[in-house]
Amino acid sequence: MAFKLLYASSFLLLLLPIPTIAQTYPNISFGSSLSAQEDSSPWASPSGEFAFGFRKLSNDGFILAIWFDKIPEKTIVWSANGNNLAPKGSTVELNTFGQLVLNYASGEQTLISHDQSKDTGVAYAAMLDTGNFVLADQDSNNLWESFDQPTDTILPTQTLSIGSVLFAPYTATNYSKGRFQLTLESNGSVVLYTTNFPLDSTNFPYKRIEPITSNSVDADSAFQVIFNQSGSIYVTDSKGNIRTIVSDTTVSVQDFYHRATFDYDGVFRHYTYPKNNGSSVWSTLLFIPKNICWELKEETGGGACGFNSICKQDPKGPTTCECPKNYMFIDPNDERKGCKQNFLPQSCEEASPETDLFGFQAMLNTDWPNGDYEHFQPVTEEWCKQICLSDCFCAIAIYDGSRSDCWKKGIPLSNGRMDLSVGWTSLVKIRLGNSTRRPLAIPDAKTQRSSNLTLIGSVLMLIVTYLVVAIITYVVVSRSYSRKAKVSDLYPVINLKCFTYLELKLATSGFKEVLGRGAFATVYKGVLASDKGKLVAVKRLDTVVRENDWEFKAEVSAIGGTNHRNLVKLQGFCNEGQHRILVYEFMSNGSLAGFLFGGESRPSWYRRRDIALGTARGLSYLHGECSSQIIHCDIKPQNILLDDSFTARIADFGVAKLLKTDQTRTTTRFRGTKGYVAPEWYKSLPVTVKADVYSYGVLLLEIIFCRKNFEADAEDEDQMILADWAYNCYKQQKLHLLLQNDDDAIDDFKTVEKYVMISFWCIQEDPSMRPTMKIVTQMLEGIVEVSVPQNPSSLYAI
Ligand SMILES: *[C@@H]1O[C@H](CO)[C@@H](O)[C@H](O)[C@H]1NC(C)=O
Ligand SMILES: *[C@@H]1O[C@H](CO)[C@@H](O)[C@H](O)[C@H]1NC(C)=O
Ligand SMILES: *[C@@H]1O[C@H](CO)[C@@H](O)[C@H](O)[C@H]1NC(C)=O
Ligand SMILES: *[C@@H]1O[C@H](CO)[C@@H](O)[C@H](O)[C@H]1NC(C)=O
Ligand SMILES: *[C@@H]1O[C@H](CO)[C@@H](O)[C@H](O)[C@H]1NC(C)=O
Ligand SMILES: *[C@@H]1O[C@H](CO)[C@@H](O)[C@H](O)[C@H]1NC(C)=O
Repeated sequence: MAFKLLYASSFLLLLLPIPTIAQTYPNISFGSSLSAQEDSSPWASPSGEFAFGFRKLSNDGFILAIWFDKIPEKTIVWSANGNNLAPKGSTVELNTFGQLVLNYASGEQTLISHDQSKDTGVAYAAMLDTGNFVLADQDSNNLWESFDQPTDTILPTQTLSIGSVLFAPYTATNYSKGRFQLTLESNGSVVLYTTNFPLDSTNFPYKRIEPITSNSVDADSAFQVIFNQSGSIYVTDSKGNIRTIVSDTTVSVQDFYHRATFDYDGVFRHYTYPKNNGSSVWSTLLFIPKNICWELKEETGGGACGFNSICKQDPKGPTTCECPKNYMFIDPNDERKGCKQNFLPQSCEEASPETDLFGFQAMLNTDWPNGDYEHFQPVTEEWCKQICLSDCFCAIAIYDGSRSDCWKKGIPLSNGRMDLSVGWTSLVKIRLGNSTRRPLAIPDAKTQRSSNLTLIGSVLMLIVTYLVVAIITYVVVSRSYSRKAKVSDLYPVINLKCFTYLELKLATSGFKEVLGRGAFATVYKGVLASDKGKLVAVKRLDTVVRENDWEFKAEVSAIGGTNHRNLVKLQGFCNEGQHRILVYEFMSNGSLAGFLFGGESRPSWYRRRDIALGTARGLSYLHGECSSQIIHCDIKPQNILLDDSFTARIADFGVAKLLKTDQTRTTTRFRGTKGYVAPEWYKSLPVTVKADVYSYGVLLLEIIFCRKNFEADAEDEDQMILADWAYNCYKQQKLHLLLQNDDDAIDDFKTVEKYVMISFWCIQEDPSMRPTMKIVTQMLEGIVEVSVPQNPSSLYAI
């Protein structure tokens, strides 16, 4: 399994000059110190192969580190302060108590050796030839060693015990804790995780190295990862039996330096470097996983390179990230944050579908697995292109000619990769010509006033652009009308199962287990014997609705026509005699209400963030899908369900009405749930999709703060209505008052604040001030910036 691959490991090179002459200090005496200066010499090991000291990383400062000192790269193998670089003039001191202390020039102090007591028993400190820096007692027992505090690298003779963690650095030159971590778990598995960056908490395990099972019981096993003196890496159990060989090598440690590093791209690599050859490079002996672009494939996550990007595996060097043509990096300095469109996205306005302003860029052997929202088969490639062009949400069509399959995928594109094994072509939808991105969607009242001239300029530009677009569209639409009509005739028939009443009665054991009750329906748990015991939610509509056959048919066709990963999927229906029943997928993790308000402690902020975004995407889909627009009318935490992977799935279109886009008000009956209901319901104003935006805004606040919108028992009257309290805190820059005991959210405060601002935009009293769900989604994703919201005043004026 040894891959002998040479490459210029540019990402390991340190760009900057390094201290030159390393003096060897067999023992470092108490009271010695080193200063963070360009020319200070480090403490070196007796052979001079390793050194301990400060290295200048950038203008930002110095890192206290251990490195290979005899090779030109001076590769760092350990560091103490990657997250908090020391400015010039800082010092590291072995104090008179035998403690290793980092004194920042700012006055801050950090104890590097983890011993708070004054009488440490330390007799001497030394930089050893193994690369281990030790503080030892009189009898040469190590009281503290750098080998016990690994960062991203392990060296021969070093071991990892259960619970030890290696953190991948953030980038090649930034030694902050990055996006990946490697741990040895208590059952002997070595697991590579993504982290909830920038936090340490683990997120998604993308690679497991499992120990080979043995007859002995593992309950008390003290597993260890051992990098032995001959350069082999393996996992042993408490009896010392080797249970997995991670890297076996014949490359001698006499003639080669060895190291195993968890690199910033999430790949664990075993490297060697010939001693006595000043002009060589590190070569990769082995790397895990074999192809991170394939293996780091979270359900609908960004993959190894972030959303909308393309990951390319290079066995010789770091995994590279690219953007599709006409896309660009969100952050040019950090290519792993993903990509965004470099053009104005297709308009979803019915009046200007812009169909002929878009075309396709074919990308060979490229795929974005998962996250497709519609699938057609068998169809032709031309048809596949047309169906994507006519859908403003479709960003990529994947066409597999071998089986005439066509998939539609929307932004954000997940798990992108380019690899010869993909075998098909992705069709990336791009705007033809050279249009630029649209400016921010929501004007800020203040800047609006202060920059009237700019505004007039932009308005003129917009008018001109609009006219041009309108003229082109007019020509295009009138020319292509007949062709488009043909395309929509080709929509495959909605695939719903028609159940008999008896089947559903059996499935629910006579409608026994109630999952929930609504105004018009009761939902029961069921098991489909005909479908391998699949669990379903069976929604039985009551008399009121039953009498209106049209409403039932409308609901079935509206729901059946939807297909999005953030909506609960309709499996089938029963329309037999007086029985009107809908059969949905069963959602194992219950409702968002239970998730947010049910537990003792707050659920993970990162999960909450995903749910907020998923809900927004689902709603955006309901509002924007071209054929028929669906207003939900009852968005609240009880109607957002969570599937196995805690993905938000919008449920219960029970009160949703099928509205033609020009028909804005269809009912006089009060719909929805108090607290989440937009003011227009009370004011006899037309009700549009913006009513859902309002409810979403209230829901978003609840998700952010894990608190119900209305809390009668609040400490203070001001705190009863969450939206009011949140707005006051936001105004006074005191949002942290609402985030007590929520460290995840506090650490991600910028995002919290942004989401709060978005929710204030959503709950503006004037519906026209509220953004569309599409814009909300883009703001949550960071594609559209969020301006300062106005006070969403007279919130609950009835
Ligand atoms: C370092 O100090 C210890 C304890 O005083 C002593 O045993 C050891 O020999 C010293 N090592 C060297 C290389 O001087
Ligand atoms: C390293 O990256 C982190 C995370 O983005 C950032 O906070 C920090 O400032 C960076 N450090 C340097 C020295 O660029
Ligand atoms: C170790 O535990 C994980 C989950 O905790 C499990 O998936 C894995 O199979 C276990 N490995 C062994 C060897 O038992
Ligand atoms: C290191 O491990 C390899 C593979 O298990 C083994 O062949 C070798 O003898 C070991 N070396 C030492 C010094 O234990
Ligand atoms: C040193 O390494 C370089 C690059 O790997 C190689 O081209 C060169 O032949 C090596 N020199 C010796 C003396 O081995
Ligand atoms: C678009 O821009 C590219 C490069 O900037 C240029 O080569 C091309 O001619 C432009 N096309 C149009 C239609 O202006």
